[in-house]
This record gives sequence, C-alpha cells and structure tokens, in this order.
Amino acid sequence: MTIPVNIAALGARAAAMIEQLGAIPSAPDTLTRFFLTPEHRRAADLVARWMGEAGLSVSEDALGTVRGAWHPAGPEAPRLLIGSHIDTVANAGKYDGTLGVILGILAVEAVARGGLTPAYGIDVLAFGDEEGTRFPTTLSSSAACAGVFLPASLQARDGDGISLGEALLAYGKNPDDIAASAYDPSRVLAYIEAHIEQGPVLEAEGAPLGVVTAIAGASRLSVTVTGEAGHAGTVPMRLRRDALSGAAEMALAVERIARAGADGMVATVGRVHVEPGSVNVIPARVVFTVDLRSASDASRRAALTRFEADAHRIAEQRGLGVVISAFHEVATVPCYRDIQRRLGDAVASLGLRAPLLPSGAGHDGQAMAKLCPVGMLFVRCKGGISHNPAEYASPEDMGMAAAALIRFIERFQQPPSDGGTSGAQT
Ligand code: GLV
Ligand code: MN
Ligand code: MN
Repeated sequence: MTIPVNIAALGARAAAMIEQLGAIPSAPDTLTRFFLTPEHRRAADLVARWMGEAGLSVSEDALGTVRGAWHPAGPEAPRLLIGSHIDTVANAGKYDGTLGVILGILAVEAVARGGLTPAYGIDVLAFGDEEGTRFPTTLSSSAACAGVFLPASLQARDGDGISLGEALLAYGKNPDDIAASAYDPSRVLAYIEAHIEQGPVLEAEGAPLGVVTAIAGASRLSVTVTGEAGHAGTVPMRLRRDALSGAAEMALAVERIARAGADGMVATVGRVHVEPGSVNVIPARVVFTVDLRSASDASRRAALTRFEADAHRIAEQRGLGVVISAFHEVATVPCYRDIQRRLGDAVASLGLRAPLLPSGAGHDGQAMAKLCPVGMLFVRCKGGISHNPAEYASPEDMGMAAAALIRFIERFQQPPSDGGTSGAQT
C-alpha cells in the first residue's frame, strides 16, 4: 500500500516542531539542553505530548528515553525502532538529534493514519544522552535500550560533582530499573535514525537526502598534566614546570597526528581546565579532553598509541606528570547493507538520488548496533554547519526525509539480512 504524502505539509510541520523544541530552554539566543536537567524534562514532555497526539502510546524508561509505541500487530510482534536524541551541546543548533525524533513521529503518524497494517510494530525513541556534554557517559540512554549500559557509568560526575545515579534519582528515575529498559534482541528488527548530515557533502552533491554507510569510531580521553604553581613574576622561564604550556604542546601533537592520519581522521581538544587559573600564577594542573575519530578503527588506535607516546615525551622534557584516561571508546559501526539498500529505494521512490556517505559524527546507532541492525538517513544541512546555532535544514528537505521514512516503513515487510557482510557489532 502507498500512503499519500504531502511533502510540503510534512516539511512545514517539521519546521514548526523544530522551532518549538528549539525554544526549550527559552533563553533568547542560546540553546543548551543537557541530559536530566529541567530543560530535558520540558523537551521530553513536549515530545511525549506530540507522540500522544500522533496516536502513539507513550512511556519513559529508566534513563529518561521517551518511547512512543505503535503496535498494530499487538505488543508481542517484532518492532522497528526509529529514534534520535533531544539533548544538545552547549549553544547548539536546533536540528541535531531533534530532527530525527520529529521525523519519526511524523512518519509513524502518517502510516498509522493512512491505514497501514504491518506485521510489526514501531517504537519512536527520544534519547537524552547522545552528546555526552553533561556526564562523561555518551550514549548511555541508547546503551540502556540496547542492554549494554555499564553500571559503573552511574558514578560518572558532571562539572558540579553530581553523579549520573544522583541525577537520575532527582529526575524521578530508579537506577535499579535500568536493566529492565533493555529491548529483547529477538523482538527487534532494526534501528533507523534520520539526522542532519552535519557536514557539507550532500549540499555539494545537490542532494537533499543521503544514505549512511558507516558511523565513524571515536575515542575520548581525559588528559591530566601536573606541574608546579609559582609566581608569574619571579620564576625564570627555564625553571618553570608549566602544566598549561605542556598541555598546549600535547594539543598541537594530537593535531599533527590527526592531520597526518588516514581514513578521515580528526582530533579536537574541546575542553581545558586550568588550575589555579590566576593571571599571575604559573599553571600547576591542567585537565583537557581529546576527541579522536576515524572511519578505521586500526588507524584510530595507532593514533592513540602515538599520542600517548608524544604526551609522555613532552611531559618528560618539561618535568611534568601526565595521566591519560579514556572515557569513551566506540568502534566504527557499519550500517546494514540491506537497510542501506532499502533506504536508497525509499529515497529513489521520491525521484531523488541517494548518495552514500559515511558519518563522521557519532550517533545513538553506535550503541543500538549492539542490539540490532542499524541504518541512517542523512538530511542536507546548510553549509554543512552543526554544533552551532547557525545549523539549518530546509522545510522542503525535512519534508522529503519524512516522506522517505514513510516509504521505508511501507516497504519494510521482511527483517533485514546482510549475508554476513556487515551488521550489528558486538
Ligand atoms: C555527537 O554529536 C558527536 O559526534 O559528538
Ligand atoms: Mn546528533
Ligand atoms: Mn551532536
């Protein structure tokens, strides 16, 4: 059966919903919505309201993931999961994550109202911890759904010293319920996510939509450099043990490694904490983060080894201490070929080309791949800009993406099979 779609109307609704969600919090110029905050609560409530209005049964799991269920074949039938996240980076754009949740709701509403009666159900998921911007726990909410949540994550602390476990309790959740939030893998068909591309490829190709081949692996490190505090006016340069100068040299080392690295390697030092942080005191301790990504796990691991060696050499030359700890490590996840093909067919049915492209950004699909086959649809974004308030996708492109998801759902009768060529990672 073919559901009638009005691409302009779907796009206009998506754009209006993006604005509503993007207004939480309501600070005039800044969208910052971290996991388990009052802003997260308000966004989750709005998403739950939309899901209810779309005819979905709404619940919330132990990690605060909002779940909208449409189960026309009964609660025991296998499920297709469609989702993305509603947390943001600091001073974010409005589309990263939220677009995928909104498109999932619009698509399921359309197929349900259109009278489709598949032999499977659909759950739309709105995750709360994809960015890893509050706690060093990235992907904890999708990990709980996938059954791979690490209980040790409950001890992870935010910048104010609040642990994830404490924040969950304050959000009205019981950490003891986390294990029960996991889906039964035998009852899940696949996880699909629509997301803005966050890069410039689709724009350069003149294509509104693209199909993702793989999600690049990532490592995140916390690097602590220890020197000695001293008077900025009296200690000669040659006698200093300046932790910040050492950290700066290490940041340049990881930049050099990534520039020379293969497979689209990128490295970012995005957070630096300096102690004591006074204008007239030589820095005694610096903690900084490294985010290192590559489409090849082998080249990423080789780069990590080089960075560790460089950091220790720099520390030794400067009489500093250095401790490196990894707080996020996720392998490259190939998207299921069969799902790529089906998403491509759905896009083609709208008269569009569907370029194939890898994702350099991380996504909940990396955790969901431990549960089931995953696939992703990318939506062109202006200038390839993301993690920036200037992020933008046009209503037309968003309408196309909703229509492509509808066409995908209509065609999704058989479970995906990949002939063992790629798929869920364990
Ligand atoms: C998430 O947006 C990430 O890739 O850091
Ligand atoms: Mn995202
Ligand atoms: Mn993001």
